Amino acid sequence: MKSTTLLSTLSLGIVAVEGHTVINYPPWRGNNLLSNSSFPFGMARTYPCGGHPMTTNRTHYPLDGSGAFAFEPGWSPGHGLNAVYINLCLGPEEGSDATEVRNCSLTIMGPLELKGPTDEQYAGQVCVPRLGLPRGVTPRAGDLASLQIVQVVKHGAALYSCADIIFTDDAALIPAVNETNCFNSSGISLKPAGFHAHEAAVSGATTAVTQLSGVLSMGMGLLVFGYLL
Ligand SMILES: *[C@@H]1O[C@H](CO)[C@@H](O)[C@H](O)[C@H]1NC(C)=O
Ligand SMILES: *[C@@H]1O[C@H](CO)[C@@H](O)[C@H](O)[C@H]1NC(C)=O
Ligand SMILES: *[C@@H]1O[C@H](CO)[C@@H](O)[C@H](O)[C@H]1NC(C)=O
Ligand SMILES: *[C@@H]1O[C@H](CO)[C@@H](O)[C@H](O)[C@H]1NC(C)=O
Ligand SMILES: *[C@@H]1O[C@H](CO)[C@@H](O)[C@H](O)[C@H]1NC(C)=O
Repeated sequence: MKSTTLLSTLSLGIVAVEGHTVINYPPWRGNNLLSNSSFPFGMARTYPCGGHPMTTNRTHYPLDGSGAFAFEPGWSPGHGLNAVYINLCLGPEEGSDATEVRNCSLTIMGPLELKGPTDEQYAGQVCVPRLGLPRGVTPRAGDLASLQIVQVVKHGAALYSCADIIFTDDAALIPAVNETNCFNSSGISLKPAGFHAHEAAVSGATTAVTQLSGVLSMGMGLLVFGYLL
């Protein structure tokens, strides 16, 4: 019971718990559910990977991307209804001395609508059994990458976390995906999102349409963009 262990560690009161996303499969870079003077707004808000540097203990992941992705979204209040993206950050390339992934703009899944059982903190995970790869991406064995999860929370702030992987064609190296690590807890669901505008914002924009036509059309553009995605 990973979550129980983590929760009891955090409740020792060493640091303030600043929610959010725990990646269970493949394992994440490390615990970033904290805020301190280096990360006053919460470590998980640090782009691109939630504050922890790139690791060297990477998880082997299938070449065709058919591995699992399991995460716990509910580590603080405010995650009853969130948007989620799962992105691929390719690199660094062999021989590079880069200490962080530079480009996480390849979306594997998203925007997704994440629904939890409550808007208060909740336990449990959701698992995508076969993640896949972005169209046109064909990694070779030995290529390095990170799987990035972005959780866009209430009011629009985003939380980041990454799992560092190495692609392989050797199935024996890939940690098994099974009912212990890849399951859905009841009450948590994930599906392709259609964006919903906040009710009050929409009526406010409508009444102020003459002064704010620029803003309004920008808003409409985003909505159209959302539905086309
Ligand atoms: C890598 O090591 C860190 C620090 O020990 C740990 O938190 C993380 O879960 C490990 N990642 C993997 C993929 O084992
Ligand atoms: C804040 O926490 C991070 C992660 O544990 C750590 O690397 C950093 O040194 C901490 N900052 C301070 C000022 O303690
Ligand atoms: C990131 O990678 C994508 C796909 O390879 C590429 O189209 C895009 O230009 C890159 N962006 C940056 C900032 O390097
Ligand atoms: C599931 O796979 C993990 C490795 O990813 C392994 O540690 C665990 O024992 C497996 N559980 C079962 C029930 O086979
Ligand atoms: C978990 O639920 C999502 C939809 O919410 C589904 O796509 C996925 O296949 C489910 N995972 C498992 C392990 O059944």
